[in-house]
Amino acid sequence: MKLTIDTEKKTLVQETAAGREEFPLYSDQAFDLIAEQWVKVGWNQRYSYTFSWMGRPVIQLPEDMVRTQEVIYRVKPDVILETGVAHGGSLIFYASLCKALGKGRVIGIDIEIRPANRQAIEAHELASYITLIEGSSTAPTTVAQAKSLVKPGETVLVLLDSNHTRQHVLDELAAYHDLVTPGSYIVATDGLMKDLHDVPRGQSEWVWDHPTAAAAEFASTHPQFVVEQPAWPFNESGLTRNLTHWPGAWLRRLP
Ligand SMILES: C[S@@+](CC[C@H](N)C(=O)[O-])C[C@H]1O[C@@H](n2cnc3c(N)ncnc32)[C@H](O)[C@@H]1O
Repeated sequence: MKLTIDTEKKTLVQETAAGREEFPLYSDQAFDLIAEQWVKVGWNQRYSYTFSWMGRPVIQLPEDMVRTQEVIYRVKPDVILETGVAHGGSLIFYASLCKALGKGRVIGIDIEIRPANRQAIEAHELASYITLIEGSSTAPTTVAQAKSLVKPGETVLVLLDSNHTRQHVLDELAAYHDLVTPGSYIVATDGLMKDLHDVPRGQSEWVWDHPTAAAAEFASTHPQFVVEQPAWPFNESGLTRNLTHWPGAWLRRLP
């Protein structure tokens, strides 16, 4: 595909095997096409490795964090469980929302919690909201330990941000989906990989091996879950598509 932006004529021209289309530069279609490329270039340049939340690095696109906040405010979970802790920034982000809401706590699972990260998370102002579990997210002992921390009847939101292979995400979906309460979600993050097989830092097998494939496959065999981008609670634009690293990620449990 070739995209040509003409800032004088204020047009964006898209040329593909299917033909040539011209859009006004200041249009929703042009925004979506530019955003798609911006997200890919930004991923390659590690834009999402430039943010922190209350002192801890968080490896996310801020748009995804704001959309997650919209869901957390609506669902008001008792428990937010995330696989993939890294530096702990996302756990601190969820904990800060729990504190602001006066509701909820956070469980973080990682195969390796480095001593410096553990120390920083445990010394943080919001540490009392967070329980860390070290172990592979799909190991039966880890799954059992996580589940033992959730009480019957609690509202649970699950985010999967550990190993992003299709098989690992499928195994995580199998392990944790029964925790998710109706109306809440299990989120297979980072499916943007499917669009990154041809970028310099990407890998060729990502064409098929990615979390979006796992989420779609899981939904096809679990009719109580649907892949559904959460509705934007505020939108005074004509735009409708998330600018995201998490395409096809949100699996909502039907009531
Ligand atoms: C993308 S980082 C998580 C980023 C973090 N959620 C954030 O937003 O800042 C992925 C993490 O997954 C962990 N990981 C990889 N394989 C895992 C597994 N099998 N089980 C649990 N964690 C795993 C890695 O150690 C790494 O810390």
